[in-house]
Amino acid sequence: MPGAAEGKTRVIQWATGAVGIEALRGILDHPDLELAGVRVYSSDKHGVDAGVLAGRSAVGVTATTSLDEVLQSDADCVLYTPRSPSIDDVCALLASGKNVVTTSFGFHTARSDGPDKDRLRKACEAGGTSLHGTGLNPGNLGVVLPLALSGLTRDITNVKVQERADWSVYESLDITFDQMKFGSPVGEVTPECKSLKFTSDLFREQVWLVGDALGLDLDEVVTDLQVIPASVDHEVFGRTLKAGTVAGQWWRWTGRSAGHIRVEVEAVWTVGERPPSNWPAPQHGWTITLEGTPSAQAHIVTLASFVRDVSLAEHVNAASVATASQAVNSVPAVVAAPPGFVTIADLPLIRNRHAVARAT
Ligand SMILES: NC(=O)c1ccc[n+]([C@@H]2O[C@H](COP(=O)([O-])OP(=O)(O)OC[C@H]3O[C@@H](n4cnc5c(N)ncnc54)[C@H](OP(=O)(O)O)[C@@H]3O)[C@@H](O)[C@H]2O)c1
Repeated sequence: MPGAAEGKTRVIQWATGAVGIEALRGILDHPDLELAGVRVYSSDKHGVDAGVLAGRSAVGVTATTSLDEVLQSDADCVLYTPRSPSIDDVCALLASGKNVVTTSFGFHTARSDGPDKDRLRKACEAGGTSLHGTGLNPGNLGVVLPLALSGLTRDITNVKVQERADWSVYESLDITFDQMKFGSPVGEVTPECKSLKFTSDLFREQVWLVGDALGLDLDEVVTDLQVIPASVDHEVFGRTLKAGTVAGQWWRWTGRSAGHIRVEVEAVWTVGERPPSNWPAPQHGWTITLEGTPSAQAHIVTLASFVRDVSLAEHVNAASVATASQAVNSVPAVVAAPPGFVTIADLPLIRNRHAVARAT
């Protein structure tokens, strides 16, 4: 491969937000990967060296806002972490011969609703490439962990994945306010409104994925949402969430087989508010519960450290590092996979094969 270091997988990092910048650092540090390009949206990042964007020394790869430049460059994979995906762009990438690993969608595309599935499948066929969605949840905690725990069981009647988070510590304000509709009038926040439907569909795919991977014979996935208004104004990184607008969302996506709930993904998300007493109260982080023979439960948090004294911002950023790392570590397996939609359940266990700390 011209320009490629021998044996290395060439990766383009697409978008440098909270997750993307950590993915960029992960690619730069990974001994089996070589940075082949960086796609940015912000014009002030165009032409800036990728190492400088990552807060390090220059590496000789400059960021670009140009899709054509990315399409024409020689790479095996694009690590795709924009705020919201463009199916047109992803189809172009896949058809140009670049595999796509993303944290934004594509967790179980074969089970997704709507017309994009056929376009994406054709693009994979045209380019001989794969599409893979992964991350933290959906991703490692939402899928890998339940599947790993299932190895302990003889039978399973129910799998539940709960996520509890307060978004007021999460600096991606476009996602909090625009995509997730926190701060919107209560009547506007329904599972059917466009941006929430997009997010909800990702978790629906996750339910199907766990159900399919465990042979739980799901015949439907049902979505429920309750919201609460803010009791007072909340300041979130310089933006105000006004009293009376949405400050809490309790989502439930339930996968059913003949009327029995077999897989549940539940999210209790708030911005500065306590959940009401009639909502579930899982601990902050992620709780995975398998009911079966035997039953098993794991509670997980991601923090910057359990031994060092670090700032809240660093602890919060740990979730972005984890999301990005799962994607970076998946790249070699996705590039090696047969063309088409590749789920977490299709891949071998994704590990960090070079775990000794490198750059910080
Ligand atoms: N699966 C999981 O566990 C998981 C966890 C966390 C996040 N996510 C997903 O990962 C993705 C990235 O999250 P994040 O926290 O990094 O978001 P973010 O901090 O808001 O960053 C997103 C980046 O998107 C780019 N962008 C700007 N305008 C855009 C537009 N019009 N369309 C698309 N992208 C645009 C920008 O890139 P530049 O700054 O380079 O210009 C921005 O920095 C999101 O889709 C999020 O939902 C998944």
